[in-house]
Amino acid sequence: MNEKELQHFEDKIKQEIRIEPKDWMPDDYRKMLIRQISQHAHSEIVGMLPEANWITRAPSLKRKAILLAKVQDEAGHGLYLYCAAETLNISREEMTEQLLSGRAKYSSIFNYPTLSWADMGAIGWLVDGAAIMNQVPLCRASYGPYARAMIRICKEESFHQRQGYEILLTLCRGSKEQKAMAQDALNRWWWPSLMMFGPNDDDSPHSAQSMKWKIKRFSNDELRQKFVDVCKDQADILGIAIPDSDLKWNEERGHYDFGEINWEEFWSVIKGNGPCNKERLDARIKAHENGEWVREAALAYAEKKKEVIDDVVKLS
Ligand SMILES: [Fe+2]
Ligand SMILES: [Fe+2]
Repeated sequence: MNEKELQHFEDKIKQEIRIEPKDWMPDDYRKMLIRQISQHAHSEIVGMLPEANWITRAPSLKRKAILLAKVQDEAGHGLYLYCAAETLNISREEMTEQLLSGRAKYSSIFNYPTLSWADMGAIGWLVDGAAIMNQVPLCRASYGPYARAMIRICKEESFHQRQGYEILLTLCRGSKEQKAMAQDALNRWWWPSLMMFGPNDDDSPHSAQSMKWKIKRFSNDELRQKFVDVCKDQADILGIAIPDSDLKWNEERGHYDFGEINWEEFWSVIKGNGPCNKERLDARIKAHENGEWVREAALAYAEKKKEVIDDVVKLS
């Protein structure tokens, strides 16, 4: 390793100067970013599936248009992030192969089923809400292409969070049955949402290095706490209860205390044993196979166009 280059890299990190694709960077920094950005991209793409399940059953044309736009945004997020990862010298094909073969991970939250329309509200409010909490600090990540992709993504996530909360607000102001649907969705999505912040800091081996390199700015537990504090007040406005009997304001800490997460469930879902892991992966594999002819046609078209240009160059 070239000491001078390493020193220069570390100075830039210290001075908050962005690292760009052509700059020298340590191998482990590159690897950590590829892992994080590609997992993030996969999560956006797999994350379209639970909500797509409700597009045809949305309760009105307006709701359908909003949900459709939201799911399309997630596809866009996946694409920006795959492009950001490609600047680190990994191909889109390789990342896709890692996802479809089950070697790459995506957020555990998308392995839970969407059982009712209220789940569209709970996902927007909690899942996109947790994503915002995680992602706003990433707009300042030390790697330029990742940080810039996150700026646009966060703006769209904020719309996602609001549309979800508004679905729940409408249900909670509706009939007794509608309010019960909202409560049931909160009961099922609350704990998996808290798991989205990842393991406790003591069990998160990559966190310290990621913070040293200024990819991450806050620890998993700090972000989780912030999320709980914000959600409690929002649940009170909805008039539904967070399913945690240990949730209590702690005057001394200035935060809410909350119950223990079921880490056994978390690790089991990560390892592929969640309620929908198989269904999600099968759906992605099928979509990839169905898209084969599109990729072939696009390649053939690009090849033909190149031949025409080559001929013109030869003639001139
Ligand atoms: Fe997204
Ligand atoms: Fe989103």
